[in-house]
Amino acid sequence: MTTPSQVRIVEVGARDGLQNEKTLLPAAVKIELIDRLSATGLRSIEATSFVSPKWVPQLADAAEVFSAINKKPGVSYPVLVPNEQGYARARAVGVTEIAVFAAASEAFSRKNINASIDESIARFEPVLARAKSDGVKVRGYVSTVLGCPYQGEVPLADVVRVARRLHDLGCHEISLGDTIGVGTPGKAKAMLKAVANEVPMAALAVHFHDTYGQALANILACLEEGVAVIDSAVSGTGGCPYAKGASGNVASEDVVYMLHGMGIVTGIDLDRLIDTGAWLAAQLHKDTASRVTRARTAPP
Ligand code: HMG
Ligand code: MG
Repeated sequence: MTTPSQVRIVEVGARDGLQNEKTLLPAAVKIELIDRLSATGLRSIEATSFVSPKWVPQLADAAEVFSAINKKPGVSYPVLVPNEQGYARARAVGVTEIAVFAAASEAFSRKNINASIDESIARFEPVLARAKSDGVKVRGYVSTVLGCPYQGEVPLADVVRVARRLHDLGCHEISLGDTIGVGTPGKAKAMLKAVANEVPMAALAVHFHDTYGQALANILACLEEGVAVIDSAVSGTGGCPYAKGASGNVASEDVVYMLHGMGIVTGIDLDRLIDTGAWLAAQLHKDTASRVTRARTAPP
């Protein structure tokens, strides 16, 4: 396979990033974050999550945030939905793209959403059916594709089975998530290849966390395999409440810097992205996890 000449970044900071941040941000800050991201040239911005507010208090204001963001033409704003209740809440405020999520690890599935993998997929079936009849686009996440905090190794066959099932159920894109950031490039490549035997590469995305500092290396390995959609979070926000030491998503600024350095087109204004990352870190009262933003905003 050849490395793609263009890549679409799916910015997940406002959802996957914030859902694991301890500092609760007011809705107005989240709205400003998404509007700033829209102005960078990003075309896919995951806006929020309509899960149970008891499970993810940070995103209890999903309806307020989604309603108020400036929906820029040509930009998609998918939201995470765990069940029919979340779907109804999302549709009530005009959502037209959603994302559903299942784990490749049985143990993780039970901790994350209180259901087995098969139960979680069964729960999504009515959501996917309604989405189809409503003309709502659905993205599917598979988490823990390269390791699980509870069961350790996750068999490749389980990753392939869940990815294939979500694709068969109508998900237009499947994002393969190394939720706890334990993967290394050879394993990432082998995992992507195995899934691509069952789901077309054009329908796949990769989603790395940087816990062990392997995220960019893993992304490069997957680019060489032909993947052209990459999830990342501005300022590298996030973590995983169920995985000790898990750090945030790979920082969007670092991914874009690498891609542009390789001559790969993203359509994103890196300077604006860096400004947004630095601004978000200040809102969260923490240092940015982006090496690029640190380098560019360091005092002389
Ligand atoms: P549950 O407690 O097992 O189920 O939660 P329940 O159906 O009995 O609901 C309990 C209460 O929540 C009820 O309220 C429901 O009405 C309410 P009560 O009667 O107690 O007052 N409820 C809701 N409220 C608002 N919106 C809803 C909703 N659903 C139920 N949609 C449930 C089951 C799935 C709801 C819960 O476990 C949940 O919301 N989990 C989400 C946790 C989460 O967001 N985890 C992170 C997902 S991201 C990820 O996994 C990885 C990814 O980022 C990729 C990667 O990094 O690898 C995608
Ligand atoms: Mg993630």
